[in-house]
Amino acid sequence: MTDLATILASARAEFAACTDAAALENAKARYLGKAGALTELLKGLAQLSATDRPAAGAAINDAKRELESALAARRAALADAKLAAQLAADALDVSLPGRGRGAGTLHPLSRVLERFESLFRSLGFAVADGPEIEDDFHNFTALNTPENHPARSMQDTFYVEGGMVLRTHTSPIQVRYMETHAPPIKIIAPGRVYRVDSDATHSPMFHQVEGLWIDRDVSFADLKGVLTEFLRRFFERDDLKVRFRPSFFPFTEPSAEIDMAFGDGGWLEIAGSGQVHPNVLRAVGIDPEQYQGFAFGMGPDRLAMLRYGVNDLRLFYENDLRFLRQFA
Ligand code: DAH
Repeated sequence: MTDLATILASARAEFAACTDAAALENAKARYLGKAGALTELLKGLAQLSATDRPAAGAAINDAKRELESALAARRAALADAKLAAQLAADALDVSLPGRGRGAGTLHPLSRVLERFESLFRSLGFAVADGPEIEDDFHNFTALNTPENHPARSMQDTFYVEGGMVLRTHTSPIQVRYMETHAPPIKIIAPGRVYRVDSDATHSPMFHQVEGLWIDRDVSFADLKGVLTEFLRRFFERDDLKVRFRPSFFPFTEPSAEIDMAFGDGGWLEIAGSGQVHPNVLRAVGIDPEQYQGFAFGMGPDRLAMLRYGVNDLRLFYENDLRFLRQFA
């Protein structure tokens, strides 16, 4: 039975040398498989005499059990090693320094709107808000612009289902605010507005800042004072020239376009404005004999272009990081 001892020893050595499960299963086949070394020995029992056979059979079976338990131990050891290797590969070194968080910054238009809010707050204005999907009444009719009024076609509109529009200006916020608040009213209302319009100075979505001051005696002189003061503070130039040019809006009377001096003797239009039309006050139940005031609608995108020296409005909306990083 030296054969058996040799087989056991070499099987043990082979199992121990296997470094993965597949190799181990192949080694197993060489000893315990159909044509394996131990199996061959068992087959050889037939040739032994009846007296030798029981002892030989028992020895072979003992050896087989021994090999099976060696095999099981090796399988478990290989599985443990594999798991340990995987854990080591997935390990996080929590002591490594961070990679940096790439903190975001405010968009230049957001900065400009914040500047509007803080400057107007310092002039005593509160900040109001309104929906971007508006009904016809608030966007037009209550602003003294009834159906078929030619001024409606000045604002090429995105209509949505159910007679609603993407608001073409922030002026409907005036109406909503006056519907829910009694004078004195002193607000600005920044927000997105929408028109069918697109080139270097027009985007189908852009921003406006509406203003409204209603009290017993708010006059056109107050309009001039507030807007001139605001623009001088905004551009940090006490000598900034501001011009009020006669114009027309259905919701103001008289109306003026506000221009600021720009470049060499040029003027740039930056807002519409005027004394609120009595019909607008009536539409929200305010008595125009008791109350009056002014309104304006300004283009903060254009002020941002001036403040930062940007010559194409669309750059603000493309979100190209190379552009935006310059304002970080
Ligand atoms: N809503 C006007 C527009 O978008 C701008 C405007 C003009 C607003 C005069 C006003 C105003 O409040 O009084 O063209």
